[in-house]
Amino acid sequence: MDSIPANRRLWNRISGAYQRRHDPQIGASPRLWGMYSIPDAELGALGDVTGKRVLELGCGAGQWSRSLAAEGATVVGMDLSEAQLAAAAGAMGADRYALVQGAAEQLPFADHAFDLVFCDFGGLSWAPARLAVPQTARVLAPGGRLVFNVAAPWFETCYDEAAERVTTTLQKPYFGLDAIAEDEGATSYQLTYGDWVRVLRGAGLVIDDLIEPRPDAATLNGYNPTDPPDWAHHWPAEMLWVTHKP
Ligand SMILES: C[S@@+](CC[C@H](N)C(=O)[O-])C[C@H]1O[C@@H](n2cnc3c(N)ncnc32)[C@H](O)[C@@H]1O
Repeated sequence: MDSIPANRRLWNRISGAYQRRHDPQIGASPRLWGMYSIPDAELGALGDVTGKRVLELGCGAGQWSRSLAAEGATVVGMDLSEAQLAAAAGAMGADRYALVQGAAEQLPFADHAFDLVFCDFGGLSWAPARLAVPQTARVLAPGGRLVFNVAAPWFETCYDEAAERVTTTLQKPYFGLDAIAEDEGATSYQLTYGDWVRVLRGAGLVIDDLIEPRPDAATLNGYNPTDPPDWAHHWPAEMLWVTHKP
């Protein structure tokens, strides 16, 4: 839980600039996944949410939560950063949803409170999965689903820190990916494929799918430069896990 204060400070400080830069992409239309804005209609990860109790874990400015509330879900958008929650409140649509401040490591919700917990580069990228995944399993009702998109290890291991771009050569070891130092003492997290399987199964979840979103060659990464520009058309930049609680 050591990274909670530093991650909160970082996101409070960068929220304004982050939303000015990325909100037009994230919120361009409903249900866009990840760094390449691939529509959920293509990936089929989330399914129908009508009437479902939904928790977005690390909702940022609530672009996803807003869409799902408009589709008839009862949504809670949770985030660690009050600046991000203020951005979500400011962008709230006609279909209201609840905003709660909290950390993925210690969810402030009752057992079995949700039918769907999900995030897109949210709490499961910014909290240790060994702490956050069991929490999500706890708050899911039986039959409920945990669906989340995070960076693929390929993307991390090929990232050249000096050049600030993703390359076609391995830049750091795959084993030992775990805590990644971000600006100002903040930390993001990554696991190997095997560790994700063990953490999810260890929390009692059933893995239904591992979707590897693949943009077309012309779609550029909206966050990190890659070399070549169509890197993610050839290698997996993201992994979208689809699981459920039996
Ligand atoms: C990249 S944003 C994801 C939100 C949205 N999908 C987007 O792409 O902007 C990451 C979010 O995770 C939040 N966050 C960071 N650490 C967290 C934690 N431990 N628990 C919950 N949310 C956290 C940040 O405040 C931030 O709003």
